[in-house]
Amino acid sequence: MRKIFFVVPILLVVAGIAWAQGGMKKHKPLPYEFGTVTINNYSQQAGMPPVVFDHWVHRQYYTCRLCHVDVGFGMIAGSTKICSADNMKGYYCGTCHNGEMLHNKKRIFESCAREYSREEYKRCVKCHTLEKRAAKEDEFYRFSEKMPGDRFGNRINWEVAEEKGLIKPIDYLEGVSAKKSNLKVNPDFAIKAKVGGMPDIIFSHKKHTVWNGCELCHPEIFIGVKKGTSKYSMVDIFDGKYCGVCHEKVAFPQTDCQRCHATPPQG
Ligand code: HEC
Ligand code: HEC
Ligand code: HEC
Ligand code: HEC
Ligand code: HEC
Ligand code: HEC
Repeated sequence: MRKIFFVVPILLVVAGIAWAQGGMKKHKPLPYEFGTVTINNYSQQAGMPPVVFDHWVHRQYYTCRLCHVDVGFGMIAGSTKICSADNMKGYYCGTCHNGEMLHNKKRIFESCAREYSREEYKRCVKCHTLEKRAAKEDEFYRFSEKMPGDRFGNRINWEVAEEKGLIKPIDYLEGVSAKKSNLKVNPDFAIKAKVGGMPDIIFSHKKHTVWNGCELCHPEIFIGVKKGTSKYSMVDIFDGKYCGVCHEKVAFPQTDCQRCHATPPQG
């Protein structure tokens, strides 16, 4: 029992350091905004509104790996430098948003074009979003109502949603994904929190591989040749590195301490 009194001050100190360093987001996103990326390298310059990409819309249909490895999107907002010509040639958004690929037997709407009518402009502003749209917010709440709840992030427990078969993200697109060899999945392991009284972290290689494949983490985020070769601390994670590359921006946020620090204190 006394360990609890030990843990709480440590939590506060670490969280405090992170706040002081500005590692945590200042504006806490609303559930429908969590995982939203604004892409604006070229749009406004070209007289179009910036592009708003929602992870919640897409992650129900596709794995992280499919987009971030096979389609080739970077893991930092704006880093891919997508332009309209790429989309029109069938890369990036245009891989799927080409007016031909089917999704639930409906054609996925097309992306950029050089010429367009007033009617077609309605399609442009699905991506080149001028302002927050009430309709999008409604759509989010209608979707999230049917999903198992969570305390943070999108307030959707994506993991349980998948376990229950409520969402079935696909990991393969004909003509885009390379046929994968059956990878041997590494065992799950515990990561020591290294602070007395702080619960250790059980890291599931198996679960993460289902969503991310191996390539999303190795070798860019974690060297991964031998456990313990990547040296990092909670402050690095708060700063958006290592686990923090995903946890805070798209996967459940760092405020959910216990979800990672899940094993009873060891020392
Ligand atoms: C499926 C989403 C999507 C749709 C629909 C879409 N775009 Fe884009 N468009 C993008 C993305 C992503 C970018 C890159 C954004 C950035 O970095 O500014 C982009 C960039 C642009 C640019 C910036 C200049 C350039 O050459 O890259 C123009 C102009 C443009 N789009 C025009 C259009 C027009 C016109 C339409 C409607 C006919 C349209 N787009 C529909 C996703 C879309
Ligand atoms: C349909 C494609 C798609 C899927 C599926 C997808 N992403 Fe993304 N992701 C993107 C795009 C597009 C961007 C923005 C890239 C850019 O701006 O250059 C992005 C950006 C990100 C970023 C950076 C966000 C930021 O604010 O800097 C992270 C982290 C990320 N994705 C993680 C994930 C994880 C984890 C999953 C699976 C749960 C996932 N993505 C699923 C397309 C996708
Ligand atoms: C792997 C395929 C895939 C990729 C890549 C992809 N999308 Fe989508 N997107 C979909 C599907 C499927 C839907 C849902 C069906 C539909 O709305 O046609 C969707 C829906 C959307 C919607 C919701 C439209 C609405 O308001 O109903 C937007 C906006 C969108 N995508 C933008 C983007 C942007 C921007 C990119 C690139 C940065 C992108 N998508 C890349 C498959 C994809
Ligand atoms: C979400 C991120 C993530 C994914 C996905 C992932 N790993 Fe890892 N992997 C890690 C982390 C974290 C470590 C520990 C690294 C460290 O401490 O330096 C690790 C360690 C390893 C190690 C060293 C293990 C040891 O006991 O020393 C190997 C080998 C490895 N990973 C292979 C894989 C393979 C193969 C896949 C795909 C089947 C994969 N990983 C998917 C994050 C990931
Ligand atoms: C996404 C998973 C994740 C979440 C969420 C998380 N942690 Fe951690 N934490 C880790 C990992 C992994 C380590 C071990 C780093 C290492 O190898 O030393 C760690 C280490 C720590 C340590 C040990 C000292 C240090 O700096 O490494 C403390 C204290 C800590 N976390 C506090 C917190 C607090 C407080 C929260 C909630 C605000 C939190 N953690 C949320 C993954 C997480
Ligand atoms: C490449 C992106 C990525 C990285 C890096 C990553 N995760 Fe995750 N993680 C996810 C996604 C996606 C989920 C699914 C749940 C969600 O989206 O909220 C998840 C779920 C989890 C869960 C709940 C599932 C389980 O295993 O019981 C834990 C705990 C977790 N991550 C810990 C970690 C730790 C610790 C690290 C760093 C060593 C880490 N993650 C690095 C993407 C990532």
